[in-house]
Amino acid sequence: MGTREAEQYEYLASELDAYTHWFAAPDPYSGGFFLAFTLFAEFSDTARTARDMTASFLRGAGADQIVGDAQLVVSELVGNVVNHAMPDHRLARPGGCRRIDVTFKMWPKWLFIGVADEDSTPPMLPVGESFAPQLAGELSEAVLPDSGRGLLIAQRLATSVWWTPEDKGGKTVWCRFDLDGGSEGEPLP
Ligand SMILES: Nc1ncnc2c1ncn2[C@@H]1O[C@H](COP(=O)(O)OP(=O)(O)OP(=O)(O)O)[C@@H](O)[C@H]1O
Ligand SMILES: [Mg+2]
Repeated sequence: MGTREAEQYEYLASELDAYTHWFAAPDPYSGGFFLAFTLFAEFSDTARTARDMTASFLRGAGADQIVGDAQLVVSELVGNVVNHAMPDHRLARPGGCRRIDVTFKMWPKWLFIGVADEDSTPPMLPVGESFAPQLAGELSEAVLPDSGRGLLIAQRLATSVWWTPEDKGGKTVWCRFDLDGGSEGEPLP
C-alpha cells in the first residue's frame, strides 16, 4: 500500500470511527458528556442562551479550547432556525412558538452538536467556495455576499456539517468537532 493510500485508509477508518460514535446510543459508563435542551425561536434571548449553554457545557467537559468556535457555529445554526424554519403543517401549532432542540454529545474525542427544528426543508449546505480564500482577502466587504455565510462558517470551523431528517418530520443540522489534535477544518487528504 502506497503512502497516499495508507493515509486515505487511515482517514476513512477515523471517519467511520467518528460516525459510529455519533450514531450509537451512548454507553452510560463511557464517561461521555451529554446535554439536550429546548429553546424557542420567538424568544428574544434564544441565541444568547444557546451561546451561554454551549460555553457552560464545553467548560464543564474540559473542552475550553473550542468554546469560541462552537459558540459561533451554534449561533449560526440557531439563527437559521429563527430566520428560515417554517414548521411542517402537521407540527405547527397555531400561535405557538417554534421549537429548537439542541443536543451536545462529547464522547470520547468528538464533539457532536445537533440543532433540530420542525421544518423538513433541508438546509442549503454550500458546495465549494464562492471565492478562493486568497482572493476573498483582496476583496472589500462590499462585494462579498451579505447572506449565505452561516453554513459556510460552520463548515470552516467544524470538521464536518451534515443534516438528517427526523421520523416525525423536521430535521437536525449536525456538526462535528474533533478534539485532541483531530483534523479540524482540514480538507480530505
Ligand atoms: N434550519 C433551516 N431550515 C430551513 N432552511 C434552512 C435552515 N438553515 C439553513 N437553511 C437554508 O440554507 C440557506 C443557507 O444558510 P446560511 O446560514 O448559509 O445562509 P443565510 O442564513 O441565508 O445567511 P447568513 O447566515 O449569512 O445570515 C438559507 O438561506 C436557507 O435557505
Ligand atoms: Mg444563516
